[in-house]
Amino acid sequence: MDNRPVALVTGAGRGIGRAVSLDLARNGYDIAANDIAFDRSAGAAASPPAELEQAAAALGAAFLAVPGDIADLGRHETMLRAVRDRFGRLDLLVNNAGIPPLERTDILETEAESYDRVMAVNARGTFFLTQRAARWLVEEAQAGRAVRPAVIFITSISAEVSSPSRAEYCLSKAAAGMAARLFADRLASAGIAVYEVRPGIILTDMTAPVKDKYDRLIAEGLVPQGRWGRTEDVARAVTALARGDFGFSTGLCLEVSGGMNIRRL
Ligand code: NAI
Repeated sequence: MDNRPVALVTGAGRGIGRAVSLDLARNGYDIAANDIAFDRSAGAAASPPAELEQAAAALGAAFLAVPGDIADLGRHETMLRAVRDRFGRLDLLVNNAGIPPLERTDILETEAESYDRVMAVNARGTFFLTQRAARWLVEEAQAGRAVRPAVIFITSISAEVSSPSRAEYCLSKAAAGMAARLFADRLASAGIAVYEVRPGIILTDMTAPVKDKYDRLIAEGLVPQGRWGRTEDVARAVTALARGDFGFSTGLCLEVSGGMNIRRL
């Protein structure tokens, strides 16, 4: 058998996570695809995991659906055990699962319920899943089994850019960005690279409710490169990092935002 590395991608059922999974599959990875939505649809022939499995298989990748809410820390061991049972290895974790605020509200009105849920998924769940996966990655790296062992956090330009109508999202992404740096520091000596990818405005179901607003802002020049980001733009950045193109740059934060990183006058 060939030595295909295995990637666990969270929130892989649609959008950026789906594109990341398929681009990694195209580039030689077998895919363990986590999504909270797979809990509901597991087993159905036309379900999202079955459709994603077919797309991955068409690219030559083995596939495992890993249902589970990453905010539920009690599920993490079960999720990782499923990956171990199926593939016997882990080489890459892509922390993609994330949610927007339950509702956009002014920071003076932010509700604790939305704050807690957004932090529970984007920051707390992501942190503890990474911690648990990292222990396994260290074992794999020490045994010389892992191929370019790495963790990639999909955060957001909101880790740095202020949007007072979704404070809890910005806070959660800033925390995830810091987690990327902390794990990069801790895991460097173990030979495990950790990166942060910060998407800008990407056309997905998450941004569908605010599409008209961003269509207008992009037409008015908000994004220097003048268009919506595509899920493939993010996926290609993740693949480049995963395959080691930035191998001496652990802790790198790569923005994929069409130039929104440029401060303008
Ligand atoms: P999306 O909403 O289209 O897809 C997210 C996927 O994650 C869904 O399949 C959902 O079921 C899954 N998911 C949600 N909560 C989960 C949980 N607790 N456990 C497991 N799976 C869960 O979102 P999109 O746009 O693809 O975003 C993916 C990531 O990229 C998110 O972390 C998001 O914050 C980030 N991002 C998105 C941007 C955009 O403009 N779309 C911009 C910057 C960052």
